Formats: sequence, structure tokens, C-alpha cells
Amino acid sequence: MKALILSGGKGTRLRPLTYTGAKQLVPVANKPILWYCIESIVAAGITDIGIVISPETGEEVKSKTGNGDRFGANITYILQDTPSGLAHAVKISQLFLGDDSFIMFLGDNLIESELNKFLANFQQKRLDALILLSQVADPTAFGVATIDLEGRVIRLIEKPKQPESNLALVGVYFFKNTIHSAIANIAPSARGELEITDAIQQLIDTNQKVEADELEGWWLDTGKKDDILAANQIVLDARLKSQNLGDIDSDSNISGRVEVGLSSKVISCKIRGPVIIGENCHLEHAYIGPYTSISDRVTIIDTDIEHSVILCDTKITGIHQRIVDSVIGQRVSMKVSPKRPQALRFLVGDDSQLEIM
Ligand code: G1P
Repeated sequence: MKALILSGGKGTRLRPLTYTGAKQLVPVANKPILWYCIESIVAAGITDIGIVISPETGEEVKSKTGNGDRFGANITYILQDTPSGLAHAVKISQLFLGDDSFIMFLGDNLIESELNKFLANFQQKRLDALILLSQVADPTAFGVATIDLEGRVIRLIEKPKQPESNLALVGVYFFKNTIHSAIANIAPSARGELEITDAIQQLIDTNQKVEADELEGWWLDTGKKDDILAANQIVLDARLKSQNLGDIDSDSNISGRVEVGLSSKVISCKIRGPVIIGENCHLEHAYIGPYTSISDRVTIIDTDIEHSVILCDTKITGIHQRIVDSVIGQRVSMKVSPKRPQALRFLVGDDSQLEIM
């Protein structure tokens, strides 16, 4: 059993953040989304992992994630020259996959459930494909499945205008090697991509064994700003533990679960957890409210912020209007002079400069 993680794509829905970085590397609770995928695959006992990367962001994914040692895995990188679809990504990975069965995991998806249960189902029933489904409010944004009374998958349609159900395809799939000939028999879709949804439909049409399991627990497809914030909130709620490896002065007031990373300084701050603060940060006269994740080397002075994600090397000073529901990129500089009693809402890309006067 192998695993294939797809970490290419252009991340158009997360622009401007993704002009300069891979969407799969955007941190949730200070850890790249992609790393959660790797960890859950390794937790299911699979250590032979291929990661499909794009020419635009592949080097960054590679240099940050490494050869797999830190995860106890062996990672092979596979370059997809063009964003030609999920089934195309499988096609170009055939050399790596060989005849093995594999889990395919979209690198911007986060799920609460462990993979073991699904893997056991896939293997025991000797399925050709096992797909995971989750009920969603707006199925038009996803692949959508129609299931018969016995729970068999009868139809899959990619981003239908008139969905037949509210069961969306989660970005985690289990395949036997029969998927390769199914992919060889499909044509590009209207958007010009080889769709994995069409390949699975091809398996169904040729009477191969395709089943679905419905996810219990949460699933997040982190394509947009609010998805990142939702993922951040859920992961902080579920996994954060209090820990202080930094330096918090006696004037600061900390409550709830708060993690402060190595060599970070907290001076005269009020912090209400759950909050995670990375390494080498400088926080002074700041209020940091619940569900905030602050990456490494961030400076926050005379500023109020909550329910936000701040990427590394960013500096924010003098913003007392509370910053809420914001995702702020790397190396951003934000400063404000006068005090105004309003909330501010941002999606700020890497290398931005903001001065609100
Ligand atoms: C892809 C799949 C879609 C699935 C979704 C889950 O869509 O094509 O079937 O529901 O991932 O994240 P994309 O995110 O590439 O638009």
C-alpha cells in the first residue's frame, strides 16, 4: 500500500496568499496543512508516500517538507508540469505507484477521522475504489455522489449545477491498480482536466467494486480564507495543549490553553486561549484573543487581534481596532496611528504593506 498526496494546483481561491506560496503550506495551528495529511497517512501505517508538486510551488513544498525523515516516512516527489486534473496526477505517478493499491489524499483537505477504519474496509472487501463522502450545504462546489438504497455508488458528477444529493466527495480516495486503466479510458472534461470523478465513474460503469463510506467528524477543504480560519479553530480546539517554551513577563495575563514557542517574548500582554505562538516572536502590549495562530518571528505591538492566522516574519503595530477573522501572509508590515473603535477584516498577501491613517 502506498500513498499519493496531491500538492500542486494554483490555489486561485486563496489569492493573494498563493501568488507567492503553496496553498498546502498555509499553516493551520502553525503546521502546514500538507503535514497533517502526511501524519495521518503515516498513522495508518503507510510510509511510502509520493507527493505530486507543481513547477510554481514544488521547490518550496520540497524544501519545507523534506525526504520524510521527520515523519518516519519515505517521500518521493513527482512533478506535474501542468494542472491537468487529479486523474492526470495519478497517470504521471504510475512509475512510483507500480501495481500497488494506494490512498490518494488532496493536500489541502483536512479530516478528523483516522484512516485505519476506511483502509480496513477497502482491503477486506477487496474494493477497486473506496470513496469518502460528507454531507455539505453547497454540493455544487464539489464532486457529488448518488447512492442507491444498498449504499452502492451509482453516479458521480463533478461540480454539478443541479446536484442529485448533498453528499460531496471528500479529497481522500482508496484505489486498486485498476484505476490506471479507468484513467486511460477517460477524456478531459469541459474544464480541460482529467477528472478523478470521471475515472471512478468509469470503474462503476465497467462493474468494478466501488463503495463509499460517509465521514463522521469534520472535514475541511481549505481552499478559501474562511476555510483556513475554520480549520484553525477546529484544530486549536481539538489538539492544542498549554506549553511555554518562551519568556512571559509577570505583567502579562494568560488564560485558557496557550502555547508559546522557543525564544518568544511576551511582555505586558493579555492572551486568551486557545492561542498558539511560534518561535522567536515578540509580543508587547497586545491582546491576543481566542483562535489565533501566530507563526515564527512575528512581532505584534500595541495591537488587538483574535480569531486570525498570521504567517511568519510579519510585523503589526498600533492596531487597537480589533483585527478579527483575518489571514495575514508572510513578511507583512501593518501599522496604524490613531485609535478608531472599529473591527477590521483582512485577507492580506505576502509582502504587503498596510498603513491605515
Ligand atoms: C476536488 C475534486 C472534487 C472534490 C474536492 C474535495 O475538487 O475534484 O470532486 O469534492 O476536490 O476537496 P477541486 O478542489 O480540485 O476543485
